Amino acid sequence: MTIGLYFGTQTGKTETVCGYIKDEFGDAVADAIDVSKKDLADFPNFDGLICGIPTWNTGAEELRSGTAWDELLEDIPDLDLKGKPVALFGLGDSVGYGEDFVDAMEELHRHFEKAGAKMIGYVSLDGYENFTSSRCLIPHLNEITKPEEGMKFCGLPVDEDSEGELTEERVKNWCTQLKLEMGL
Ligand SMILES: Cc1cc2nc3c(=O)[nH]c(=O)nc-3n(C[C@H](O)[C@H](O)[C@H](O)COP(=O)(O)O)c2cc1C
Repeated sequence: MTIGLYFGTQTGKTETVCGYIKDEFGDAVADAIDVSKKDLADFPNFDGLICGIPTWNTGAEELRSGTAWDELLEDIPDLDLKGKPVALFGLGDSVGYGEDFVDAMEELHRHFEKAGAKMIGYVSLDGYENFTSSRCLIPHLNEITKPEEGMKFCGLPVDEDSEGELTEERVKNWCTQLKLEMGL
């Protein structure tokens, strides 16, 4: 099994997290690819995908990432990803941008679902104490939603700006979860 690892970034933090993921998976995950340098044609060739997206366009209805993902989103539903496991992680700042925490991750989720992907890697809100709302909370995706017990993020939020000390453990635990969900 080979899993594709893709990221968009402005200041490199999403790429850094790809490095932690690669360390956890080893050869099962391909080298991380910057989506600004590659089209999406290879997506269906992988057995699964892990995609990282930061949020820069605070509060925007659409195109919230501010990275190359914004230009690629519309193409994702046209890919044949039926049943393929896809996991998302989102970079954000739960203190500085706590009302719009990791909002761009929801857009990727929505477009991959339209392609028929099997979305995996959802995480509970445990340990995310700072943010006040997000569009990434299941069951209220794409609505500005305050956190409540029982909700889940539609991927792994990573906050290198305000909770950087938690990143490596969060990623490690998430990778363990992904391995189980992908049957590795
Ligand atoms: C101008 C600006 C706007 C931002 N908007 C948001 C936001 O709306 N939501 C959020 O969670 N983080 C927001 N952030 C934090 C970034 O997403 C965070 O720094 C992220 O780690 C950047 O990832 P990158 O280095 O891969 O580009 C913003 C940061 C800046 C400087």
